[in-house]
Amino acid sequence: MLKIAVLVSGSGSNLQALIDARLSGQIVGVISNKPGAYALERAQKAGIATAVIEHKQYPDRESFDDVMHQQLLDWEVDLVVLAGFMRILSAKFVKAWEGKMLNIHPSLLPHYKGMHTHQRVLNTGDVYHGCTVHYVTAELDAGQALAQGVLTVSHQDSVESLANRVHVLEHLIYPQVVEWICSGTLQHTPNAVLYRGQVLAQPLQFCQR
Ligand code: GAR
Repeated sequence: MLKIAVLVSGSGSNLQALIDARLSGQIVGVISNKPGAYALERAQKAGIATAVIEHKQYPDRESFDDVMHQQLLDWEVDLVVLAGFMRILSAKFVKAWEGKMLNIHPSLLPHYKGMHTHQRVLNTGDVYHGCTVHYVTAELDAGQALAQGVLTVSHQDSVESLANRVHVLEHLIYPQVVEWICSGTLQHTPNAVLYRGQVLAQPLQFCQR
């Protein structure tokens, strides 16, 4: 059974979706860089170990990441799932977890890397928006995309409504991708990502009107 750690900074609705999905892997721990994150309460309610590692208490990114790395090793983690974890990770940490660390981002990558994605989509007048689950690499929001949730932007949409609608998609696709990894349906190999034994050339797409 795959051992999973979830890294959070905030509300943790994606963590909740992962808990509720009853994955065939086990969420062995949740790390937050913010002591007050509601995600910690969600984890505790589900009986999952938590660790608060406050980035402010460390002189630089690498020493903060080293402490997280050690915690992940202590929990014997196989898969790291970033779920609203709002810290940029050091190249060394990313390298150590290459092919074993996922992120979810609220845009259809490669569009709108970084912050304020919903506002930027509205500013541009895009027809489509959504979220992407991808492997984490040293470059921000640039690792291979595995799945995307796609929605059609309506004239009535605001930043808030888009955030809510994207969250619905996130809660659908993130547990699905994690389960594919737990079950071996999705495999990271040195040459390619395989989905059901075939090279995954494009992210799998889930659409919502
Ligand atoms: C999610 O929308 C996720 O896509 C985003 O943070 C939110 C966390 O929500 N992540 C990023 O922007 C990462 N670049 P949650 O705490 O309710 O799961």
